[in-house]
Amino acid sequence: MKTIAHVVGARPNFMKIAPVFEALRRRPGLRQLLVNTGQHYDEAMAGIFLREFGLPQPERDLDVGSGSHAVQTAKVMIGFEQVCLETRPDLVVVVGDVNSTMAATIVATKLGIPAAHVEAGLRSNDRTMPEEINRIVTDRLAELLLTPSADADANLLAEGVAPDRIHRVGNVMVDTLFRFLPQAKFERVRDRVRVEPKRYVVLTLHRPSNVDERHRLTAMMNVMQTIGARLPVVFPVHPRTRARLDEMGFAANGHGVLLTEPMGYLDFLSLTSNARIVLTDSGGLQEESTALGVPCLTLRENTERPITVIEGTNRVVGTDPAAILAAFDEFMASPPPPRCPALWDGRAAIRIADAIDAFMKPR
Ligand code: UD1
Repeated sequence: MKTIAHVVGARPNFMKIAPVFEALRRRPGLRQLLVNTGQHYDEAMAGIFLREFGLPQPERDLDVGSGSHAVQTAKVMIGFEQVCLETRPDLVVVVGDVNSTMAATIVATKLGIPAAHVEAGLRSNDRTMPEEINRIVTDRLAELLLTPSADADANLLAEGVAPDRIHRVGNVMVDTLFRFLPQAKFERVRDRVRVEPKRYVVLTLHRPSNVDERHRLTAMMNVMQTIGARLPVVFPVHPRTRARLDEMGFAANGHGVLLTEPMGYLDFLSLTSNARIVLTDSGGLQEESTALGVPCLTLRENTERPITVIEGTNRVVGTDPAAILAAFDEFMASPPPPRCPALWDGRAAIRIADAIDAFMKPR
């Protein structure tokens, strides 16, 4: 019996681990262990996703909570090292690009346990972004690099990664999206906010570069109020952003901007799938909107997911108010055609399980 330890911790991890955990459940000779770092800890940021995706209660909770990058990373490392020493996994599976991803990969690799990275190879080429550091370190160390798209393979090859470590498996978040879309009925939205299908915009904002400095967040909210005068803007607010808005005394629900609490997966999926346009600085939402065929304007200067621009519905518009408004009007008048990249087909987790199976067979 071989043991696989899966690491989750922050909100965007749960929808990526869930289909992998499920696909591996069906493979004989494997014991699976779910480790929750607790990087996110609010019910709305973590607990609800474990239940919605039918994941088991984690066998270990590291309870690391919030902190500076060094503190958070160090706490995951200390806790996860103990888990690895006690449970001796044969493989550690990490997903995405959060601090927990990098921390667990460093620990596993130093203990001689191979790590498999789901969503490997993405690069924004912007090292001011904490996630970019996490991606680079994780991919440097992980032995099995499971990529969502050809651009990710090219990034890894350009960094000198041996081709036999790279496996293009497609986008695992799309597996989760396709699985749950039939349950994401519009009634879920209507119960929370008064909007009509395709007659509202969804906004998410949580990147430190957009929300941590007051003048930037103020400028962004001013643009959103201008957009809100044209079409209601539904804005589920991340706790990082909520804290900044509270400090600014930003009035809730004014000028067509409707603030809500963070949503669970099904509520949020019903919100985004029925939206006219998505405005976001999230990485995951750029992919989800492409998979849904919903136009997306990315409120950042770059993206680690260029495939959503080249083969999807995304445009990287930056943070200049005039540029955001111009792109919004353009997307309202002529939305980009829906397109979905190759291997974003709902079967990525099966390909991941195949790659893991092959990797764990004695060579
Ligand atoms: C983290 C990830 C980011 C990911 C995002 C998704 C890193 C470096 N960043 O950013 O890549 O896109 O998660 O949400 O790993 N807080 C709560 N409750 C929680 C969690 C956080 O109130 O359950 C508040 C705390 O005040 C905390 C702040 O949000 O200080 C930021 O949380 P943190 O985990 O540091 O980073 P995120 O911005 O969530």
